[in-house]
Amino acid sequence: MKLSEEQRKNLRITVDYTNMTDKYLGDKGISPSMLNAHKKLAKAAHAYVSANRGNDALFMGWTELPYNQTDIVADILATARDIRKKFDYFVVLGIGGSALGPIMAFNALCHLHYNDLPKSKRKGPKFYVEDNVDPVRMKELLDVIDVKKTCFNVISKSGATSETMTQYLIIADLLEKAGENVKEHVVFTTDASRGNLVKISKELGGVKSFVLGDGVGGRFSELSPVGLLPAAVLGIDIKLLLKGAAYMDKLCRTPDFKKNPALVSATLQYIAMQEDKNIGVMMPYSDNLKYLADWYAQLWAESLGKNVTLDGKPCNVGQTPVKSLGVTDQHSQVQLYTEGPYDKVVTFLSVGSYKEKSPIPHGCEDIPDVAFLGGHTMEELIQAENKATAYALTKAGRLNYTINVPEINEFTLGQLLYYFELQTAYAGAMLNIDTFNQPGVEAGKKATFALLGKPGYEGQRAELDNAAPDENYIV
Ligand code: PA5
Repeated sequence: MKLSEEQRKNLRITVDYTNMTDKYLGDKGISPSMLNAHKKLAKAAHAYVSANRGNDALFMGWTELPYNQTDIVADILATARDIRKKFDYFVVLGIGGSALGPIMAFNALCHLHYNDLPKSKRKGPKFYVEDNVDPVRMKELLDVIDVKKTCFNVISKSGATSETMTQYLIIADLLEKAGENVKEHVVFTTDASRGNLVKISKELGGVKSFVLGDGVGGRFSELSPVGLLPAAVLGIDIKLLLKGAAYMDKLCRTPDFKKNPALVSATLQYIAMQEDKNIGVMMPYSDNLKYLADWYAQLWAESLGKNVTLDGKPCNVGQTPVKSLGVTDQHSQVQLYTEGPYDKVVTFLSVGSYKEKSPIPHGCEDIPDVAFLGGHTMEELIQAENKATAYALTKAGRLNYTINVPEINEFTLGQLLYYFELQTAYAGAMLNIDTFNQPGVEAGKKATFALLGKPGYEGQRAELDNAAPDENYIV
């Protein structure tokens, strides 16, 4: 779909940080002088990210994904067409950065009850993302799909992630037992040359595979084939998604943090972290954006949660992301946000125009508590509650800001993804940490290898055995 410049402008994501400022929060807010004092740091972060755009060695290949995938996109679209023709089910096997993006885009851009729709009303096969090794979940997935009619997209950069590879072993075995050719039922998304899926592909005689480039880490991979293939299978306009990302990139080229949405957010969050606001609540007022908060939680937590600076100094930085849903969590968490400790920044994702308005009929005219709702729409109600919550938090001196999403579509989602990725890269640069590694995750992966007897991990196995629970502390 082509958008005119006017349409793009109307669909532009904006960041409103009024409620972060001392003008509205008094001494709990950020003053213009505080903000200005961070101008230099923000500029340096912007310069660092700009200078290293596309640098694979630094894991910054993701910055170029909106521009360098013309052939890949064509291949993805052709493959997706083929999958839609041949299969009734499409199952993503992956975890972390190899799953959260596909879940998020599915939820954001497809019908909220997509799998329950009749085939004629769906653009693609039934869709599942299996991002756990809960044995019950695996069994129950197999209760609702027919492996003979399923395409499994195995997404793993390393091909060594126990969870994903366990799932692969199970489905490969089932397919073989069902007399199917495994190769015909799988698509791999993995590293170009390293990694076990490359070896498995060769053994199977060449599996259709997409490459997750060297410079693109899992949590920055949604705009690569990791996210684009599942999205295309679902009939999502992936070209428009990439155009949205490119549009946000353009908006963020300026080093002036007052004009650059990702840079101003990173700076505000950085200042908040310096003030011990170590919890970041992401609160979309939209069920379609519910899993954007999950995707963001990984991006922000895994990227910024680090214990050493780039120059080797010990540190313990990061901000704990909390997922919250408006209005649902107004009735569970907002009490804490309004009156609990001053340790949070709340980010609202506010939608300008929902794809449905749902008018509220008049009724119960003799019950004023109910009657006033009639004649409004559910859109008005959810927007009013969003505004009211921001107002209440501001009155209580709580840092909060709003990301305005004019409507939810491919173009705005592309903007949001790129915005959050850039914000994370800027914040990491300000914190002077390696934003793109995850040694803490690797440690857990290796311990799992040791516990399950993978050769080469015997030493760690002995250590883990010695660390068995101490009975003195079990009640
Ligand atoms: O963001 C990351 O790098 C991680 O969450 C990985 O995506 C996750 O651990 C899965 O790794 P892999 O793609 O190698 O299976």
